[in-house]
Amino acid sequence: MKEGRKPYIAGNWKMNLDRSRALDLIKTIKGRLGDGNDREVAVFAPSVYLADVSAVAQGSPLGVGAQNLYFEREGAFTGELSGAMLREVGADRVLIGHSERRHLFHEPDDWMARKLRAALDAALLPVLCVGETLDERKGGKTDRVLKRQLETALMDVVAGEIRRLTIAYEPVWAIGTGEVATTEQAGEAHAFVRRWIAQKLGTEAGEAIRILYGGSVKPDNVKALMALDDVDGVLVGGASLKPDTFLPIIEFDT
Ligand code: 13P
Repeated sequence: MKEGRKPYIAGNWKMNLDRSRALDLIKTIKGRLGDGNDREVAVFAPSVYLADVSAVAQGSPLGVGAQNLYFEREGAFTGELSGAMLREVGADRVLIGHSERRHLFHEPDDWMARKLRAALDAALLPVLCVGETLDERKGGKTDRVLKRQLETALMDVVAGEIRRLTIAYEPVWAIGTGEVATTEQAGEAHAFVRRWIAQKLGTEAGEAIRILYGGSVKPDNVKALMALDDVDGVLVGGASLKPDTFLPIIEFDT
């Protein structure tokens, strides 16, 4: 965390909760949220609940996002959702390239730039997820993988758009496994991403971009992660599904 970059705490609900539990959870979070001046809080909800969740969140600084979008505006793309559709039901942001999309659903690298463009064009705030698998890390390929994912996704992004973009570093081996990256591993990967952004889009962009860490974030490790200079927030899966675990993460003290 560094002065000038507002901490960003986000929950990715994935394919969890039902409508009534999602609404209870969002009400609880809303009730505990301050004025949003010192931290940004958001949830990425299943798309079918976005309208209801965003209706509850309205009037608060809570962000509500979708977990995925398709890059075309409309057409014969059965099962897919456009940025405009997500926006219409109240999403103000969207995850792009989550590792589950990349690995379970085989979304190719070259879709990411198009998804990013579609999100920005629909006035959604994209969170681009990047991260290496265990094999890639063991093979010493972490930097190479991050570089490839950043290069392919950000090829059309210009420096002026950087304030609307967030990057999430989520090592695949740390997602849902209980195995969190060490502060050294997270620190190195985040610094690598920031350096890459600075080289590609300028020093100012490198300083401004927020980089979240994701992968087994829990109430007891959030503080150590947030203490790292280049970690500007967290993207939380399992622990974002219950107030008991998500509220202490939101309210971590600096
Ligand atoms: P977990 O916090 O359950 O490891 O999930 C992380 C994640 O994938 C957030 O997008």
